[in-house]
Amino acid sequence: MKNLSNRIITINRTPIFFGNDSLPSIDKLVARIRPDGIFILVDPNTMKYCLPLLMEKTESLATAKVILTNDGERAKSLQQAEKIWNELLISGAGRSSLLINLGGGVISDLGGFVAAGYHRGISYINVPTTLMAQADAAIGGKTAVNLGHLKNQVGFFYPAKAVVIFPGFLQTLPLEHKRSGIAEIIKCALIGNAALWKRLQKNPVIRLLDMPVECALWQKLILATATFKNRVVVKDYREQKIRKSLNFGHTAGHAFEGFSQMGITEPLLHGDAVAAGMICAAYLSHRKTGLSRSDLESIASYINDGFGRLPIDPLTKPQLMDIMMHDKKTHAGRLLFTLISKPGVPVLNVACGADEISEAIDYQCRLFT
Ligand SMILES: NC(=O)c1ccc[n+]([C@@H]2O[C@H](COP(=O)([O-])OP(=O)(O)OC[C@H]3O[C@@H](n4cnc5c(N)ncnc54)[C@H](O)[C@@H]3O)[C@@H](O)[C@H]2O)c1
Repeated sequence: MKNLSNRIITINRTPIFFGNDSLPSIDKLVARIRPDGIFILVDPNTMKYCLPLLMEKTESLATAKVILTNDGERAKSLQQAEKIWNELLISGAGRSSLLINLGGGVISDLGGFVAAGYHRGISYINVPTTLMAQADAAIGGKTAVNLGHLKNQVGFFYPAKAVVIFPGFLQTLPLEHKRSGIAEIIKCALIGNAALWKRLQKNPVIRLLDMPVECALWQKLILATATFKNRVVVKDYREQKIRKSLNFGHTAGHAFEGFSQMGITEPLLHGDAVAAGMICAAYLSHRKTGLSRSDLESIASYINDGFGRLPIDPLTKPQLMDIMMHDKKTHAGRLLFTLISKPGVPVLNVACGADEISEAIDYQCRLFT
């Protein structure tokens, strides 16, 4: 594959290796960590599409034990975590064992959670295989599982020993998951990189989806987003200040996602839900933090054109509001949103009341009808 440079994004708390030749860096990491056992967490797709390549490009993983978990958001549960803990235990994993999370955001969130809890914390390395995970989820040490349809209710800040990003894994990623990952790229542009937002506007989602992952633009988009995320995390690991900007679109998005998993509509992919959530957040930004009408409209139409109709129905508003009010970011009965004042400039902790949120959902519904 051409054009994929080999880079180390950071050597901070968690080194991040990026590029076409990044996988062998795992051997050096293993030599440094010197684990007494190595385990690789996969789902059925990453076992089929990614594990053979990982094994081919590394030597130190030859005797690793592979642990298979379920595919998709439902795997992010306490039950799955317990199953994996039991497998680790039965296989003799100890305090010095190493877990390699080979997969998308579900695997890195779940595997990180498992690593944080097992024997009060074992080492883990994230090897992200989806766009969502390469650009965002695998970076930053936030681990979690869901409780029922409430997203990420139990989790830890627990940093990986390293993140190894090999963009070539994306070649087998289904289109809908590629599109879902684009949502986090849009988010990073809107909260912190106006130049990236301009570049995205010249490249509609549909065109991006048509481009092969080995093209230079894709490489730049992943690198820019992963680097941005890492910079934010390094500044504010515990999410006291600027890291909250990464929640742009997630307050409403998590409610859309959680609601869709109750079985009334088709389950939404995380990125699709965040895309819809960003339209709500852009509407609230227009209402409360000075985002211009034309910026609101260009954000809404860019997302709407790229992500198409989402199953958001005015009739489901009460349930959506109910899920949202369970969000971790409430204060005195009002929800705290990350908004923007213009593309690239976040505004944190903006308290929004139920009436304003309800208006934002109405705006969203009008767009999608
Ligand atoms: N911790 C964080 O900071 C953070 C940030 C953003 C998102 N997330 C979480 O990430 C999750 C979503 O992640 P996701 O979108 O990667 O979903 P995912 O992990 O479910 O992966 C999507 C699908 O792609 C398949 N897949 C993975 N790699 C593949 C490959 N290379 N080829 C073919 N198929 C492949 C998976 O099996 C799955 O079916 C959500 O749970 C979200 O909450 C976490």
